[in-house]
Amino acid sequence: MKVAILSAMREEITPFLQKYPHHTQKEIGGNTYFLVNAGGYELILAYSKIGKVHAALSASTMILHFGAEKLIFSGVAGGLNPSLKVGDLIIANKLCQYDVDITAFGHPLGFIPESSVYIEANLTLNALAHEVAREKGITLQEGIIASGDSFIANREKKQWLIDTFGADAVEMEGASVANVCHLLRVPFCILRSISDSADGEADVSFDEFLESSAKVSADFVEAMLQKGL
Ligand code: ADE
Repeated sequence: MKVAILSAMREEITPFLQKYPHHTQKEIGGNTYFLVNAGGYELILAYSKIGKVHAALSASTMILHFGAEKLIFSGVAGGLNPSLKVGDLIIANKLCQYDVDITAFGHPLGFIPESSVYIEANLTLNALAHEVAREKGITLQEGIIASGDSFIANREKKQWLIDTFGADAVEMEGASVANVCHLLRVPFCILRSISDSADGEADVSFDEFLESSAKVSADFVEAMLQKGL
């Protein structure tokens, strides 16, 4: 089975590349795609660069060019729900683009005509994630992930995301990947480990915990692969 593992930043995909040093690689559209045969999977690994456009390009390339049949996003996020602390894991049950705004035409924030505010994740992959968490004794939360092209480091914006979208975590790619996968009918799972709390100290916390939280997420994806997608 061809499985795409996508991250936004080099630091987020590095744990996978360290685990699979014998990969081949191909450059497309300014990104490198690393190809690995391991554990019965044909893995396609990449980091997209930050933001929804880059992530959508990479997800599309992984599916349409490389033929990925399932996609897992691994990376870090800002925690909005106070129960999420640095290093904790969350999978999205649904995702929204908080920076889509055509409210001038009477639509709710995040709504796109012929689409919807939220894109739902794959129940089977999420159930697998919960099974892995249970077996390994890892706490895994499930909740709403809001994506947009800003790093949130401000208490008012954080509260707005909670109040407006019921969001539990914020990042800059997940909803665009979810949209691509939904439209191309590829099951996906968006997994994130918390690097910061999207507040006034978020930049410092992000820099401090990017690598360790990225590893928490990558290790969990590894366990999902071992369990069997
Ligand atoms: N990714 C990790 N932390 C984030 C934050 N605070 N805002 C947006 N994306 C993030």
